Amino acid sequence: MTAGYTFPNAWELARRRIELLEACHDPASIRRAAALGVGPGWRCLDAGAGGGSFARWLAARVGPAGRVLAVDLDVRLLEEAENLEVRSLDLATAELPLAAFDLVHTRLVLLHLPEREAVLRKLAAAVRPGGVLLIEEDDIHPLATATGAYREAWDAVLELTGAGGLDGEWARDLPERLGQLGLADVGAEVDTQLFPGGSEIAQFWNLTWLQARDGVVARGIPGEVIDRGRAALDDGTRWFHGPAKVIAWGWRR
Ligand SMILES: C[S@@+](CC[C@H](N)C(=O)[O-])C[C@H]1O[C@@H](n2cnc3c(N)ncnc32)[C@H](O)[C@@H]1O
Repeated sequence: MTAGYTFPNAWELARRRIELLEACHDPASIRRAAALGVGPGWRCLDAGAGGGSFARWLAARVGPAGRVLAVDLDVRLLEEAENLEVRSLDLATAELPLAAFDLVHTRLVLLHLPEREAVLRKLAAAVRPGGVLLIEEDDIHPLATATGAYREAWDAVLELTGAGGLDGEWARDLPERLGQLGLADVGAEVDTQLFPGGSEIAQFWNLTWLQARDGVVARGIPGEVIDRGRAALDDGTRWFHGPAKVIAWGWRR
């Protein structure tokens, strides 16, 4: 198992946290997957599937002739369905089937993994000729504009996650990486967050910081730094810039 993943699904509020994440990110993922032509009969892999909302959307979209494999380090939030298989595995160490899928997707997983380059290579190799790799990962550059308690909480959480191997700047080069992996017709877009206190995105970050709080304190940073940041995120009169999600795709010709 990969050491250092800061937000395990075993946490008692993990389901709520992941549901908030899905509510924020599914619309852009679905829009992009539909534009790439995901449709009946496709075989899909969702790597690090979390709570499975996107995998379930894929399963409905590919229909009975298609198939979706949802894998995660911890599958407790995932449920199987007719054409949706769930498998527990560590992407850092597991072998993935070669040239097996029409769509290989991952969202907000690789930035956490110290082995991200090797995992990205495996994901690319799992795409069959004619298929597409779709990767969505956060880049933290907009946080440079953050101030006050919001900024201090981010700094504390990023110190913790950085010690666990998170790289918040890796995603910005994703399109180039996909090209280097031999994928063709690479495309990319960025989905940025600008959100008010109390919104679903604010609640997601609020729970994320709560989950990180013990680890932050263990690093010698006062828990009040997190508490003040969470209070700021509850303030409906304020607006916040969050990370920018880089969405990149490329085709195996
Ligand atoms: C931030 S969540 C994102 C979940 C989902 N991709 C989404 O966007 O809704 C990250 C997920 O990656 C999984 N994960 C973390 N490290 C992993 C690893 N080494 N192998 C497989 N899954 C991993 C976690 O268990 C968690 O479900």
